[in-house]
Amino acid sequence: MTATNRRRPLAFDGRLVRAELVENAAGCPATGVVTNLSDEAMIVAGAVPGVVPPWKSTILRGGRIARAARASIVDVPVDANLGGVVLDGWDWFGNRMAAFPRTTPLYISPRDVVGEVEINPWAFANDPEPRAERARFRLELNLWWAPPRTDAGLHHRHDFLEIHTQIFGRGRIQIFADGEGRDLYREISTAPGDTHDPIARVEGVRDFRYPWHRGWTDEDCIWMAIEFHPLAA
Ligand SMILES: [Fe+2]
Repeated sequence: MTATNRRRPLAFDGRLVRAELVENAAGCPATGVVTNLSDEAMIVAGAVPGVVPPWKSTILRGGRIARAARASIVDVPVDANLGGVVLDGWDWFGNRMAAFPRTTPLYISPRDVVGEVEINPWAFANDPEPRAERARFRLELNLWWAPPRTDAGLHHRHDFLEIHTQIFGRGRIQIFADGEGRDLYREISTAPGDTHDPIARVEGVRDFRYPWHRGWTDEDCIWMAIEFHPLAA
């Protein structure tokens, strides 16, 4: 019999942001932004049970996860001095990427390698004509922090599938027709508790096309990256 409610702290659990992973959740109490990190529905306990679809999220305040194969629970209990989160083992992103603008205040948390998952990447990306092909991916999580009105950097290449859960503050994902950031044609609002739909076009199980996109913060923001890194066949 598999043990229920196997919980562990995530790599970015810290003094200002509490973060844990629960697997095989069954009646698991939760407070914070809860993300369904599985290909199965997550059920929220209640007089009328709630359903959180795969790779989507919700906010629970003293609620219970009735059932989930795997979920993250991320909470900001106190928001005073929240910018100090970057002093809790985080790194300025410019230290990781030489080409990153030298004055952009975007910070990255420690990374958690959750494990391997098998998904159909076309189905994951809501492709209207999914191929019947599944593949294995390494699931990795990290947090980002930026102050209000930060342009987190326009980019269009990833060798992985990505989505994001907003943990704190309101922001947007902005999508551009060009790489100079002049022609914005789409915005996805991000509020705490939201996980946006994938923006990737899946061309092969290890081949993803992205439009030019960037994160934009309207407020002090913390968001969680959810990345699927393709594994060799
Ligand atoms: Fe991206």
